[in-house]
Amino acid sequence: MKKVLELKNGETVIIRHLTKSDVNGVWFNFNEVIEEGLYLPVFFPVKSQLERDTWYVNVKREKEVCIIAENRALEKPCNIIGQCEISNLEWDAAAHVGVLGIIIREKYRNLYIGRSLIDFAIRESKKLNNKKKIILSSFSTNERALHLFKKLGFRVVGARKKQFLMNSHYIDEILMELWIDDYLNDHS
Ligand SMILES: CC(C)(COP(=O)(O)OP(=O)(O)OC[C@H]1O[C@@H](n2cnc3c(N)ncnc32)[C@H](O)[C@@H]1OP(=O)(O)O)[C@@H](O)C(=O)NCCC(=O)NCCS
Repeated sequence: MKKVLELKNGETVIIRHLTKSDVNGVWFNFNEVIEEGLYLPVFFPVKSQLERDTWYVNVKREKEVCIIAENRALEKPCNIIGQCEISNLEWDAAAHVGVLGIIIREKYRNLYIGRSLIDFAIRESKKLNNKKKIILSSFSTNERALHLFKKLGFRVVGARKKQFLMNSHYIDEILMELWIDDYLNDHS
């Protein structure tokens, strides 16, 4: 299954499931966001090919949903301009819960790719993995992400105060969740 998105800047983006040939594009994208130093609690880029490939093997083995946004007009690895993963928790009794993570390359933010990736990933995680609930967390300083998650129906269920220390500043972690059937009722 795939979806074609026409961006307001005139470019066309394909929204689809991850394949093996996307791996370096996904990590290229991830490493760029890490280098921004603003949005994720990770300090070092992932350079090891073994680590990148192992991540892919795990995603497929665990049957996790990873949806990517591809701009076919760009050369690899820059063709992957966004990704949204819904991973499993380790608990047997929480198999109905998915954990959402998302990043969009800087140049392509605010073009509704994030909203489209999350919508696609939520639907696929219900259909393929029988997920019922999606959880996530965000820096309290990440106003755009919080706005988008709330707009899609995620509710704030808690905060971990001063959970992260980034560039000598403490940041709270905001915890959010969404019940998928509520989302589908509101976004038919
Ligand atoms: C957060 C992120 C995934 C959102 O994806 P996106 O494609 O940029 O988002 P969209 O274009 O679908 O929607 C953005 C929304 O935020 C709004 N927005 C933009 N900047 C904002 C700001 N500073 N404060 C509040 N809202 C803002 C936009 O107006 C839009 O809302 P609208 O539909 O009401 O107009 C993306 O910007 C990103 O990857 N950021 C860096 C990494 C990151 O933060 N990942 C999430 C970690 S929890």
